[in-house]
Amino acid sequence: MTILRTALLLAALATPLQGQVRVASPDGRNTVTVAVRDGRLTWSLDRDGHPLILPSLLGFEFRGAPTLRDSLRIADTTRASHDEWWTQPWGEVARVHDHHNELAVSVEEMKAPNRRFILRVRAFDDGIGFRYEFPDQPNLRDFAISDELTEFAFADNAHAWWLPSNRPRMDRSEMLFSSGPLSVPDSIQTPLTMVMSTGTYMVVHEADLEDYARMNLGKRRMEDRTFQAALAPMAGGLKVTGRTPFQTPWRTVQVADHATQLAPSVLGLNLNPPNVLPSTDWIHPMKYVGIWWGMHLGVQTWSSGPRHGATTANAKRMIDFAAANGFGGVLIEGWNTGWDGDWIANRQAFSFTQAYPDYDLAEVARYAHAHNVRLIVHNETSGGIQNYERQMDSAYTLYRSLGLDAIKTGYVTDTTGEGHSHWSQFMVRHYRHVIEEAARYGIMVDAHEPIHDTGERRTYPNMMSREGARGQEYNAWSGDGGNPPEHETILFFTRLLDGPMDFTPGIFDILERSAGHAREPWEPRVRTTIAKQLALYVVIYSPLQMAADLPENYEGQPAFQFIRDVAVDWDTTRVIAGSIGDYVVVARRERGGQTWFLGAITDEQARTFDVPLSFLTPGRRYTADIYADGPGANWLTNPFPVAITHRAVTSASRLHLVLAPGGGQAIRIHPAQ
Ligand code: NOJ
Ligand code: CA
Repeated sequence: MTILRTALLLAALATPLQGQVRVASPDGRNTVTVAVRDGRLTWSLDRDGHPLILPSLLGFEFRGAPTLRDSLRIADTTRASHDEWWTQPWGEVARVHDHHNELAVSVEEMKAPNRRFILRVRAFDDGIGFRYEFPDQPNLRDFAISDELTEFAFADNAHAWWLPSNRPRMDRSEMLFSSGPLSVPDSIQTPLTMVMSTGTYMVVHEADLEDYARMNLGKRRMEDRTFQAALAPMAGGLKVTGRTPFQTPWRTVQVADHATQLAPSVLGLNLNPPNVLPSTDWIHPMKYVGIWWGMHLGVQTWSSGPRHGATTANAKRMIDFAAANGFGGVLIEGWNTGWDGDWIANRQAFSFTQAYPDYDLAEVARYAHAHNVRLIVHNETSGGIQNYERQMDSAYTLYRSLGLDAIKTGYVTDTTGEGHSHWSQFMVRHYRHVIEEAARYGIMVDAHEPIHDTGERRTYPNMMSREGARGQEYNAWSGDGGNPPEHETILFFTRLLDGPMDFTPGIFDILERSAGHAREPWEPRVRTTIAKQLALYVVIYSPLQMAADLPENYEGQPAFQFIRDVAVDWDTTRVIAGSIGDYVVVARRERGGQTWFLGAITDEQARTFDVPLSFLTPGRRYTADIYADGPGANWLTNPFPVAITHRAVTSASRLHLVLAPGGGQAIRIHPAQ
């Protein structure tokens, strides 16, 4: 038995590899190996010589053409290196380092139809990416992909945090995370974050998703740890159609020794083409308020009637409030006709130009301008894509003519009105089309129910923020009581690694008394303290950041000053402490300034942190405005107390942070007068 096994093993080792090529990151730690054995092409990933991903198959299944997977050979390889710093017009960091080694492997099929492709691999110090490129060729011209066969054979039964991807009627990302060994989930969305038994962190995702289906991962065998790309289908089941020359998105694996090194994540940005907009001067990160939470609480309506939220008078009041408090924008939902009745079933009925009679769009636009506030025009499609695309030109023309330069889009359905998955190539094309058209008209985009972020903002910096996870809205109406205290401590290391999120923090009316009735313990509510709501402005990165509560709930609240002060655009980001699902402490310096903001959040556990302020400029004197959980604060029993103190600090100071259960702390550290 043992002898037989040893013989088999030796035989396996002795099987000649028909080619193997490698590329390592500039620091030499991450190595991708591309190999062919018996006609099958694989990729694998090692770090410091230890396997992270074992040899994993590559290939495609086509409709109407043979599988492209067997009888492959490596025909040629070319290498390149790249070392460049580039600047983001806005972001979590101003400057990004793109330093990588590249290996392009030309692969040929050794039997008919003798197709060829290039596997392009880039190895960075913070991870790797690879993509398939199909040159134009007689035997691969118009094609239809029924499955991508790319595998991820994880070397270890790592502990992962995931959202499932194949749940019927849950074809979105607004779910709570599960965690456990990789052998447990049957299907997952990316970004997928995991920690190996060696302590190495890995995040699988994709970059530059332009004209392809979104990649989820699925398993062929339960209990297994080999996942395969599972592309989201269009109506009829096909995954991708195209014509060569063609390239897939990058398949990416971010790698880090510590959770705190995962953010800010720039791997995906480095794998997207540079900005194509001639000018980005018109693009403005901003904080905003809106006619929004009232609808989620049920005290106002999107539809017409006595409680209609989007009236000219309400809009002007909101603009006054924004102007008085230094907010750049005002979102107004329910302004356009189509909301009456079942607005999901009637998705083709939305107009994107026609306002309800009690809302004068031109007058509200004029009033906003006069007060130096931008309107964010709401475009809920309910997944009626054709209806929206038909109206896009006339709508954007109208908005531009009124000087309106921001929209919030929405797609509250699992499958589009046309029968395509929310994440299909059809929708990827649609989301991209919106970004491009909006850019043409000088319009910034905030997308809800979006396709996941794969770094589009580098190429189109008008693609500002998106939802794509469970946000604050779930605390208003969710059947499971709202987001649990650990939620944002998971988001930070998962969804937020792919890009900004329009989470809409800042609810002070934690028990939602504004809904008009006291909530029973099992009813939804905000499951944080007020101080944690403040800290979320620093922890959750978004260039569009809402102060989500009703204006009256900020009245007479000294803690509101933090929301007025906090920046939305950053030069530098440092994650000081973090443990996925437990806590996050992050410091960010505002873009072009010397003021730092620090946000700390915890799950249901009380925690303390000792934070050295060594990130401050030595020799300079600062004042720290500290918004901490007050005496007795506890998300469940006493979420309201906030203790506001001011302290003189320098780079030699340390701050002792005390966080309540479900609590947080927010600090503004500004140069002393
Ligand atoms: C869901 C979005 O996430 C939310 O922000 C919006 O208010 C509703 N859809 C209505 O469009
Ligand atoms: Ca949503």
